[in-house]
This record gives sequence, structure tokens and C-alpha cells, in this order.
Amino acid sequence: MQIVAEKLNFVYNKKTKFSVKALDEVSLTIEEGDFFGIIGHTGSGKSTFIQHLNALVPVQEGILKVGEYDLSSTAKKDKKALKKLRSKVGMVFQYPEYQLFEDTVFKDVAFGYSNFFPEATKEEKSKAVCEALRLVGLDPEEYAERSPFELSGGQKRRVAIAGVIVTRPEILVLDEPVAGLDPKGKRELMKLLHLLHEKECKTIIIVSHDMDEVAENCNKVAVFSEGKIVRMGTPKDVFSDAEEIKRLRLDMPLTGYLGQTLRENGFSFDFDLTEEDFIKKLQEIKRG
Ligand SMILES: Nc1ncnc2c1ncn2[C@@H]1O[C@H](COP(=O)(O)OP(=O)(O)OP(=O)(O)O)[C@@H](O)[C@H]1O
Ligand SMILES: [Mg+2]
Repeated sequence: MQIVAEKLNFVYNKKTKFSVKALDEVSLTIEEGDFFGIIGHTGSGKSTFIQHLNALVPVQEGILKVGEYDLSSTAKKDKKALKKLRSKVGMVFQYPEYQLFEDTVFKDVAFGYSNFFPEATKEEKSKAVCEALRLVGLDPEEYAERSPFELSGGQKRRVAIAGVIVTRPEILVLDEPVAGLDPKGKRELMKLLHLLHEKECKTIIIVSHDMDEVAENCNKVAVFSEGKIVRMGTPKDVFSDAEEIKRLRLDMPLTGYLGQTLRENGFSFDFDLTEEDFIKKLQEIKRG
């Protein structure tokens, strides 16, 4: 499913003295298959935008189409269509493990499923839950009957993600998926997201404050600033202007910074900002 936004505007507390313009003429296309990164300083509208994608935040002005669903039209009032959309666009909030509440992992993941498929049989539910657990790398035999509260932070987050992918969404949206995890936990979770991207969810969208993570993992990036998209393209395009990145109060990814330093020292250095490509180009220089 392709996502197309055209001139989306959104104001919180509209027509009150507390009104805040959170989105300002946001236009973008996210193609099926993208591993899309959304970055920007705090308060720039990132969460407001992604919450539009499954109608948690309603379209006030502009156009938003997610596959066949037109969220800007009156169709959004069609409850059945909305439910279907939400099963197709999975949303993982920041620190999703705080929303775990059942006494077993199985029940927590099943909760997400029953919400969308109340008519499913016990067997169908059990199959879906076990598959979702396997997809996030948790063996159902070992984890299904455990309490989510006795798991590690990374494992809890996997359970929370299983509770979203249990409906088999085509698009998975995650707000700061690795926030608060240690470096190993971060790497493992990003690896999991790539695995899901390969096997299960056609499109992945992440909001991130970590520029290394975005440069390493995303094929396309949009930069938000004060509700507007101010830059969009491959990580290489987006981070090509170090001065602008600084003006936007963002960091450069480490690979971008190293590439720039090498260029300033006379090396011709043009690469994709991933570690793999960086090392490849270094080896080429070494070989002369
Ligand atoms: N529920 C709300 N009520 C009123 N204003 C809000 C609400 N949620 C967000 N805002 C405001 O809208 C603007 C955009 O907020 P949003 O949460 O989308 O930013 P963000 O880019 O996700 O920030 P962060 O990186 O801190 O998560 C901010 O000015 C914020 O204060
Ligand atoms: Mg946010």
C-alpha cells in the first residue's frame, strides 16, 4: 500500500487560545517497500504525522491516502473500513512495553488479535499469536505462558511488537523503536525490524532521534521542522549539507561526519552513509 499525503495541515486545540499548528502543508509519498525514516527536532510534528496514518488523529485539512483508504474523505466515518485500515497499518508507540497489562505473554498478544478479529476461533487465535511470537524471535513454547513483567526490556518490547503484528499489518509504524535500549538491544531490535520488513510488513516507517540508526537502516528520510517537511530523500541526500543539518538542530550520522572530514582532507569520498559502504570506500582508497 502506498501512502500519499498532500498539503496536510493540523492544528491542536483549534479555535482556542491554546491552538498549536503541528502540521503545515505536509506532502510526501511513502512507497510500498520503503524503510522510511522520519526525523526532526522535538515538537516538529513527527508523532502527529504518523498518528494520521491509522486515523488516530483525524485529517483536518489536505489529502491523505493509505492504499485504497482515503482518510481525508467522509470514508473515515465508516467504522468497518477504519477497523480494516487499523489492522493493515500497525502502530507501535514509544515505550510500547508500558502498555502490556495481561498476566501472560499469550494473553497480551491475543488482546490485539481479538480486538480486530472477535469472530475468530480459539485455534485461529492461538495460531496467530504463536506466529507473531515466532516472528519477533520469541519461542511460544518458552514465552507464551510467562508474565510479560518478568522479561527483559528488549523482550518486553518484542512482546508489544508481536501484539501489533499479530493482525499481519502491511505497514508497520514505530515511534522511536529503540529508545531506552542498550546498544546490543538496539542492534538486535533493528535486525528484527529488517527481518519483519523482509518477511512480513511490506513497509516500515520509523520515527527516530538517532541519525546513525536512520543512515544505516532507511532508504528514504523526511526531515520535519516546525510542522513542515524541510528535506526529503536518501540519507545521503538529506545529510549532504552539514550546515543545514546543524541549523535544523540535528546531528550528523557518524559516517556522514567521517566522510566530510575525509573530503576536507583531500580524499574523494562519496558513499551511501552505511557502515558497509564506508568500509568498502576506505578499502578502495587503501588499494589506491
Ligand atoms: N495533544 C496535544 N495537544 C496540544 N498540543 C500538542 C499535542 N500533542 C502535540 N502537541 C504539539 O504539537 C506540536 C507537534 O508535536 P509532536 O508530538 O507531533 O512532535 P514530535 O516531533 O513527535 O516531538 P518529539 O520528538 O518530542 O516526540 C508540538 O508543538 C506539541 O507541543
Ligand atoms: Mg513524538
